Amino acid sequence: MTMTFSAFDALLAGRFSCRAFRADPVPRAVIERILGAACKVPSWCNAQPWQVVITSGAETDALRGALKDAVEAGSHAPDLPFPTGYSGVYQQRRRDCGWALYDAVGVTRGDRAALARQSMRNFDLFDAPHCAIISSPAELGAYGALDCGGFVTAFTLAAQAEGVATIPQAALAGFSPVLHRHFGIGDDRLILCGISFGYADPDAPANSFRTDRAPVDEIVDWRG
Ligand SMILES: Cc1cc2nc3c(=O)[nH]c(=O)nc-3n(C[C@H](O)[C@H](O)[C@H](O)COP(=O)(O)O)c2cc1C
Repeated sequence: MTMTFSAFDALLAGRFSCRAFRADPVPRAVIERILGAACKVPSWCNAQPWQVVITSGAETDALRGALKDAVEAGSHAPDLPFPTGYSGVYQQRRRDCGWALYDAVGVTRGDRAALARQSMRNFDLFDAPHCAIISSPAELGAYGALDCGGFVTAFTLAAQAEGVATIPQAALAGFSPVLHRHFGIGDDRLILCGISFGYADPDAPANSFRTDRAPVDEIVDWRG
């Protein structure tokens, strides 16, 4: 049991959000294994609400193109409302992880153009060879999204176990109407996020930092 826990903990500790990928594709059999593992997460009523579009090759490039056109057109319209604000400790953590990235890639405070350029890297999919677009039935509402959150996490961990790097991206879901059109995803489904994935470029500055976590006693309220 101790061995199993330490192996799992090491897998969790080794995963990070990758923001620079090599071009080489992930073999289909590896992607299928990752998906098969991610599907094992629990869901309310075992509804398994996740549906996934996975792009490779020219289809990933076409997605990059569609997203960049959408950003230029300014058509930001997520299916699921984006957070209305981050305050207190959440604001602090958001700032800390943002500045860890900006410091790593050399964006200095106040350089709005450089900041915007780094933010646009989301829509290049950080040069990943693949992207997974995750959607959930609209009628399942927040609980469908909750189930899919588990799927997204398991996908990232299963990928990590295969040596494949990932980054979940809500930024892509900001342009949901374009994704519905581009992939023919019906309006009865909510587009939740993308996961860009592939093999990490270990030397890229954007991959040179790691985020930290609040200690357990900050997140738990023991009773009894
Ligand atoms: C649902 C979700 C959406 C995210 N969206 C983005 C995104 O749009 N762009 C981005 O650069 N990172 C995004 N991230 C990555 C987070 O910034 C990252 O998980 C967090 O800073 C913790 O760092 P780590 O994943 O390296 O441990 C997202 C993560 C999750 C779970």
